[in-house]
Amino acid sequence: MERKVFCPPAVLGIESSCDETAAAVLAADGTILAERVFSQVADHAAFGGVVPEIAARAHILRLGPMVAEVMREAGVEFSALGAISATAGPGLIGGLLVGTGFAKGAALAAGVPYLAINHLEAHALTARLPGLFGEEVTFPYLLLLASGGHCQCLAVDGVGEYRRLGTTLDDAAGEAFDKSAKLLGLPYPGGPALEALAQEGAPERCALPRPMLGRAGCDFSFSGLKTAVAQLVAAQGDGALPRRVAADIAAGFQAAVADIFVDRMSHALDMCPEATALVVAGGVAANQTIRARLMEVAAAAGKRFLAPPLRLCTDNAVMVAWAGIERLRVGYVSELDAACRPRWPL
Ligand code: KG4
Ligand code: ZN
Repeated sequence: MERKVFCPPAVLGIESSCDETAAAVLAADGTILAERVFSQVADHAAFGGVVPEIAARAHILRLGPMVAEVMREAGVEFSALGAISATAGPGLIGGLLVGTGFAKGAALAAGVPYLAINHLEAHALTARLPGLFGEEVTFPYLLLLASGGHCQCLAVDGVGEYRRLGTTLDDAAGEAFDKSAKLLGLPYPGGPALEALAQEGAPERCALPRPMLGRAGCDFSFSGLKTAVAQLVAAQGDGALPRRVAADIAAGFQAAVADIFVDRMSHALDMCPEATALVVAGGVAANQTIRARLMEVAAAAGKRFLAPPLRLCTDNAVMVAWAGIERLRVGYVSELDAACRPRWPL
């Protein structure tokens, strides 16, 4: 007798909002069946930052073959999918149009629902991916999202229910890392390079400001810190910066950012005492000094500190497929004429 295995429909996720082209297929229970990320860093490195037109063209070239690959690896037919979800904002419009256009076309052809996903929501819900952390992460929890494009503190109350407790008034944290790294003569993206250099320096040899420290709420500001780095570098005069000086500035900068995060997230924990955990996401969450300091803040408040593995902290499509599953579960689907939203606050 043939045994019927209950196989819930899988969801395909597509991410193309910035400089990562990504696709993933997840079973409805969150099991990752296939995932791919292509980072365009090399395409943009020569320009010291992401060039939107180059990013959009790279997404066009890579997305089709990548989706075919993850679908093959997952062993799922398009028509058997529960939905196709794609990041529809916030992000660079060219890339968003490529990803959502592809997703809509595939959804229409396969006769399956389409889901327009908010990239920030995808980051926010990643922590709930089953199996990531022993116990399920329940609502509400606090999320610090610190990437190259975003720096926000959110209370995640439920699917589609977010309270923005704080945001950056100027630069994103990753942007401040990248700009400061550039001033120190480090390659793009600057965050990892600056962290490596900081290991050779001593933060106490470099006094830098800590904007917003002690202020009410949990908004962030990093542009004054970046300007202070620029002034320190300029004070060294022309010519190459001695490595020891650069290392001290890197260490001082990193310590200042960590202090700012500690102060702001302590306020966030006070503002949301019902939070079950402090979750971090975004590329800056890769920074070991920042992670260690935030872990202390969470422990002091008696909360779990959860940092998803790096590949799920930075831009990826697993989070987009998972956000699609979370939204499907509560009954949301999108219309095929849903517009992309380059600016889309949660
Ligand atoms: O989340 P992400 O990969 O992409 C988006 O910006 O959406 O974040 C990239 C940012 C860059 O600004 C990069 O410099 C920063 O995260 N970053 C780091 C580290 N690794 C990446 N910043 C500090 N320390 C790191 N180890
Ligand atoms: Zn992101």
